[in-house]
Amino acid sequence: MALAGIFLLLFLPVHLGINLMLLKTDPKPFNNVAHFMATFPLIKIFEVVLLGTILIHIFYGIWVQIQNWLARPVGYVSGNKAETSFFSKFMIWTGATILTFLILHFFNFYFIRLGLVPGNPEDFYSVAHSLFKIPAYNYIYLICFVLLGFHLYHAFYSAFQTLGLNHRIWTPLVKVIALIYAIVLPAGFALISVTLWLFR
Ligand code: HEM
Repeated sequence: MALAGIFLLLFLPVHLGINLMLLKTDPKPFNNVAHFMATFPLIKIFEVVLLGTILIHIFYGIWVQIQNWLARPVGYVSGNKAETSFFSKFMIWTGATILTFLILHFFNFYFIRLGLVPGNPEDFYSVAHSLFKIPAYNYIYLICFVLLGFHLYHAFYSAFQTLGLNHRIWTPLVKVIALIYAIVLPAGFALISVTLWLFR
């Protein structure tokens, strides 16, 4: 699950980097890259691996959470004072929000390419620009980005722990990098949403 998570952590900066081209007034650069991503054979393989990784991560996450619940069917009588962070306790719920977001997100973009939803797959620039003109989508996307940040923060440093890479000196540094990652990535996506909504 940690390896699948790390793969997804690497995908997001690439996705954000490409999406930042949506801020340009010229649609061509974004549409050209989107076309390349949709047609280049090696990227096609990457896409299958990506979608497979998402599924593995989701199913394993649900399985781990069910095991957790079964391990303690009756809750603690007094408050649980274990040193579990706020973020780790809610991973299943922040994860479920991201899954809901992904389903909506696929309806908004990916399914257009598959021909399941109407729209021009050669002009995702205009699709994104029209979508973010609708306030409700911005609210939903922005709430999801905040919860995505919570999920990413815990995911980032706990992946190191799962792989046995905890270290007296390095772990605090990993947590700082996790915090920066978990703020910068969602903030980048939010910047796109807000700019297209209010300033374009
Ligand atoms: C401003 C925010 C975002 C915008 C405008 C955006 C835009 C897009 C577009 C245009 C595509 C279609 C690419 C294609 O099919 O060729 C796409 C695909 C996708 N997006 Fe996003 N995205 C955003 C945020 C996110 C976030 C936060 C996640 C993850 C939590 C995400 C996950 C994905 C995934 C998994 C795909 C499918 C990749 C593929 O196989 O093509 N996106 N997005």
